[in-house]
Amino acid sequence: MRIAVLPAPDDFDAWRDTARALAAQQVPPDDVVWQVGDTPEDLFATTPEDAAPAQAPSPFSVPRAFIDLARSVVMADEPERFALLYTALSRLRREPKLMEDQADPLIRKLEVIAKNVRRDIHKMRAFLRFREVQDDDGTSRYVAWFEPEHHIVRANAAFFVNRFASMRWSILTPEVSLHWDGKALSEGPGASKADAPDGDPTEEVWKTYYASIFNPARVKIGAMLKEMPRKYWKNMPETALVGQLIAGAQARESGMIETARTAIGGNAQAAWEALRDEAATCTRCHLYKHATQTVFGEGPVDAAMMFVGEQPGDQEDLAGTPFVGPAGQVFNRAVAAADIDRSRVYVTNAVKHFKYEQRGKRRIHAKPDTGEITACRWWIEQERMLIRPQVTVALGATAARSLLGRTVTIGKERGRPVQLPDGGEAWITVHPSYLLRLPDEAQKQDEYARFVEDLKLAKAALG
Ligand code: URA
Repeated sequence: MRIAVLPAPDDFDAWRDTARALAAQQVPPDDVVWQVGDTPEDLFATTPEDAAPAQAPSPFSVPRAFIDLARSVVMADEPERFALLYTALSRLRREPKLMEDQADPLIRKLEVIAKNVRRDIHKMRAFLRFREVQDDDGTSRYVAWFEPEHHIVRANAAFFVNRFASMRWSILTPEVSLHWDGKALSEGPGASKADAPDGDPTEEVWKTYYASIFNPARVKIGAMLKEMPRKYWKNMPETALVGQLIAGAQARESGMIETARTAIGGNAQAAWEALRDEAATCTRCHLYKHATQTVFGEGPVDAAMMFVGEQPGDQEDLAGTPFVGPAGQVFNRAVAAADIDRSRVYVTNAVKHFKYEQRGKRRIHAKPDTGEITACRWWIEQERMLIRPQVTVALGATAARSLLGRTVTIGKERGRPVQLPDGGEAWITVHPSYLLRLPDEAQKQDEYARFVEDLKLAKAALG
């Protein structure tokens, strides 16, 4: 029997290293006991180092889908999670197609756990509220209390740093606390609700924002209320809105849903307009200095499908509208060929300012770098929070990086969904300008047909 000890309940890397080493030695799942925290004194613990076999392990690679799944499952408040994942890992050695078997009870169980974790991540993003307090030196600090169901706090840290980069804030939770001083993130011990201030949340705008999360055009209000257990309500004094939502649910029952939709849906539109206006003066990176204007996303706020391009081109920069130039024309043609109603989709870009090099009179497109993409995620994450599309199509590598936060090889990941933390699905495909650049006419036609096929698959995912 091996005792595999992991340093923290959400430490994916430690689980992966230990599991990989155990699997290389073909240690059966029943022979491993997984544990978090200190090693019991009288037991011999297995760490990645001592689990490592003396000889080089036999090559054993696992599909990306398993890694994605495991990353979420590791955060679950489910004592069996490490053992379940290790069982799946051991089976993958013999059954390389295991991940494709959606009927397999183990995979199904892991998918359900991962979904609950992703939902918890989203809830923390959507329902956490900061209150302003004065530090001893008279400066403001924003403090929030949150009780997650799973071990998701560290995984959400980057999101809050990104969103509230210029504020000094602390997020207190029972397991761990996060502190951001405007420059660096630090971790502290868990806290209790009494450590967090009471009172009204600071940002008035969150009222609008909050209502828009309940986008009634696609999310059934009753289901949404069910998703937000009462324990979150006590952290959110926007009771008037909760009242409105309940009224909405009742109105639906009595056939008056349209009235409720207009009332609450109006807020989503207002929040989107506020966001667009704020983005117009964006200086989050240097690109604003040479571009004509911010080119914000466009489309209905209740769109079920979102398309994300790279950045505005020369013509978009002048027009202030995405996808109106040559790439936009290819895009429009392909969208129509995939039988997608262009007027019902939301179209935006990963980077909202045109980056170019001036050559004589011409402005030549220049690829945005990782820093520029990261700076602009601020906007796209808020667009996504407001619109909550069921399906998001990333057009090209820049869009895919912005959506998934990692480098993506299009050829490897196109044609299948990638789960996003907010519950939506991403579909990855090429950028239309790639099609324009292909020199060979036959290849151009083949690639265009593949592009249309990708869009059809993404559309089919809407159900
Ligand atoms: N290419 C993009 O990625 N976006 C646009 O808006 C136009 C061209």
